[in-house]
Amino acid sequence: MQLEIRGLTKTFAGMRALDHLDLSIHGSGSLAVIGPSGGGKTTLLRILGGLETPDSGTVILNGREIDFSSENALMAHRRRVAVVFQAYNLFPHLTAEANLVLPLVKTRGVERSAAIAESRALLDRFGLSEHAHKHPNELSGGQKQRVAIARALALKPEILLFDEPTSALDPEITAGVLDVINDLRHENRDLILVTHEIGFARHACDQVAYVSEGQVKISGPSETIYNQSDSPEFQRFVSRIIHWKV
Ligand SMILES: Nc1ncnc2c1ncn2[C@@H]1O[C@H](COP(=O)(O)OP(=O)(O)OP(=O)(O)O)[C@@H](O)[C@H]1O
Ligand SMILES: [Mg+2]
Repeated sequence: MQLEIRGLTKTFAGMRALDHLDLSIHGSGSLAVIGPSGGGKTTLLRILGGLETPDSGTVILNGREIDFSSENALMAHRRRVAVVFQAYNLFPHLTAEANLVLPLVKTRGVERSAAIAESRALLDRFGLSEHAHKHPNELSGGQKQRVAIARALALKPEILLFDEPTSALDPEITAGVLDVINDLRHENRDLILVTHEIGFARHACDQVAYVSEGQVKISGPSETIYNQSDSPEFQRFVSRIIHWKV
């Protein structure tokens, strides 16, 4: 993944969510974005996904600058990425299987029988075959989250964006979803993951960016960032989280 962000600024009703944010990531597959609540992580992810337009700044993703000025260009960009949110965003009136089939048919123009075959294979891969006929309200949180990840993968995005995909899940289910994400990483997919799972960020992500007050305060390879960081704010953040882990 090549990601170059310069001077990214976004204001909501006079309040700066992102404040001249810079970030440069080259040649590694997965990036964890961590940091305190309200720091700007979701806003950053939504801009990367083409769901939000910045006030100023540039984003170059794998060599291509995102053109926020044209709706057509943004639509094309959205096809390159898939975003998985904590709230799943599944279509409530469709079965798990239909949640995968519909976007394939409608937005990718895949023939229906091929879309069904592909969807079944993906659901099977995530251990969801026996739940394929269920609607989202009949699925557990972890099952819904796996359907959401399967749906994102069905679209074969160039890059996958996750916004706290496990925050609504219990610890065991969280581990299962993190395993799924880790498998994707081993397939060399480009992933950007906003997470509060600091252990996962540390051990399963190649790079880490610490976002606070609308800026990337610290970033670097995950093997070294936790030891070498000389930022007291970052150290406080990490130690506070680790303090409460067993
Ligand atoms: N649509 C919006 N309208 C107004 N303010 C917003 C909007 N979206 C975000 N903000 C504000 O921008 C700031 C950054 O929010 P953001 O959601 O990016 O934070 P975050 O780092 O994802 O936090 P959390 O860890 O709690 O999810 C916050 O102060 C938030 O209140
Ligand atoms: Mg958020």
